[in-house]
Amino acid sequence: MDARRPSSAARDIERYASLFASRTRVMTSSVMRDLMAITERPEVISLAGGLPDTTSFPPETMAAVMARVASESSARALQYGPTNGLLQTRETVTRVMAASGATADPDDVLITTGGQQVIDLVCKALIDRGDVIVAEGPTYPGAVPAFTAYEADVVQISMDDDGMRIDELEETLDRLEREGRRPKFIYTIPTFQNPGGVTMSLPRRKRLVEVARERELLVLEDDPYGLLRFEGDPLPTLFELDGGEFVIYAGTFSKILSPGVRLGWAVAPRPVLEKLNLGAAESTLCPSSLTQLFVSAYFEGDGWRGYVDGLVDLYRRRRDAMLEALERNMPDGASWTHPQGGLFVWATLPDYIDTTDLLALALSHNVAFVPGRGAYLDGRGGSSMRLNFSGSTEEEIREGVARIGAVVREQIDLYQALTGGPREARRTEPQPRTDLADVLALPRRRDAAARRDAQ
Ligand SMILES: Cc1ncc(COP(=O)(O)O)c(C=O)c1O
Repeated sequence: MDARRPSSAARDIERYASLFASRTRVMTSSVMRDLMAITERPEVISLAGGLPDTTSFPPETMAAVMARVASESSARALQYGPTNGLLQTRETVTRVMAASGATADPDDVLITTGGQQVIDLVCKALIDRGDVIVAEGPTYPGAVPAFTAYEADVVQISMDDDGMRIDELEETLDRLEREGRRPKFIYTIPTFQNPGGVTMSLPRRKRLVEVARERELLVLEDDPYGLLRFEGDPLPTLFELDGGEFVIYAGTFSKILSPGVRLGWAVAPRPVLEKLNLGAAESTLCPSSLTQLFVSAYFEGDGWRGYVDGLVDLYRRRRDAMLEALERNMPDGASWTHPQGGLFVWATLPDYIDTTDLLALALSHNVAFVPGRGAYLDGRGGSSMRLNFSGSTEEEIREGVARIGAVVREQIDLYQALTGGPREARRTEPQPRTDLADVLALPRRRDAAARRDAQ
């Protein structure tokens, strides 16, 4: 190779650089997407993704539903459809929403390419550069690239065991008002939050809806996990509490059927829905007719409820395996959430451990997680990690958490060696801070054990 010629990568960058739109400068990929290539290696136990267990879906059911679509609706399945989705699929959505107690009109539904597109469309319709979005801290790592691509100023509100702290939200809204900045929307995942694993309590849900109504603010309620409840009583959605005036609801078939069908939906107040519709038409023309008909045929009867019940049992066992493994392998000073549903545990280590650095070490032991910084836009979350329990077997979860525990202990030992002093004296116990960024004020290892003994 000619040493004077720039490498092809450098040449390509040079050749295209002047062509890129300025908005590409703020485009980023999410940390989960970055990790996907690595975690696809078979030797890696990935606790990083948010993959539902699609192996549990019976192939014969898929074959039967596909065959039905082919024999009954072949031409429609292969054709373009309306931008807002086929009426029968919008009706399917309202039936699925009814299962979580929410009432929606099919005319208020927009079918999208996954819940992810709802986030993008809402940003596209509402966000100009510098506009404020209020979100939980930590927030869904996959929303971060959308927020940054639209150059939003994201203000993150702490969470505790009961979800987003509404007192802090109100203080923040007051401050923003004094600065003359009205948030375009409040983004929340109230049920089995990704990545926090916590659920917003009923009083906070009610107050959040009141706040939105009092201040005339839109809320984007992202609810992929509501039906994946392992224990406890279901809580009403914000959408239901509000009646759909200030709350935009984002749903998806990804976690109750399959992310491969790439179907989600939005329910929004009509004027907002119209803008979302225009944005969707411009980027995708219409959602896939084939997968819409597949989904509608599959959800026709009540059989889907049995499949979701099966997922709930499977994920509950995996959640339990993860909590036990954390208990066994994590050092003092670590804490983690105890989700009642969904797919994720959020764990926080002593604050001198950086989970982005730790990930490199973990990958060399063939295990992966999502470092906490990916869930913040302000650099917080450095000693936290998101752990997924839906996409791995119980055995893999035990082994994966044991490997993470080993690298954490390695880091602690290194820290002790560098800073000196007896190990005991150097332990960092989590303080009862109110911020999930650093640590949730959640039961620590010993607290949990003590509580069990007391029961
Ligand atoms: C909170 C949240 N929103 C949206 C999505 C996007 O899901 P999909 O586009 O597959 O519906 C996910 C996926 O994990 C998620 O956790």
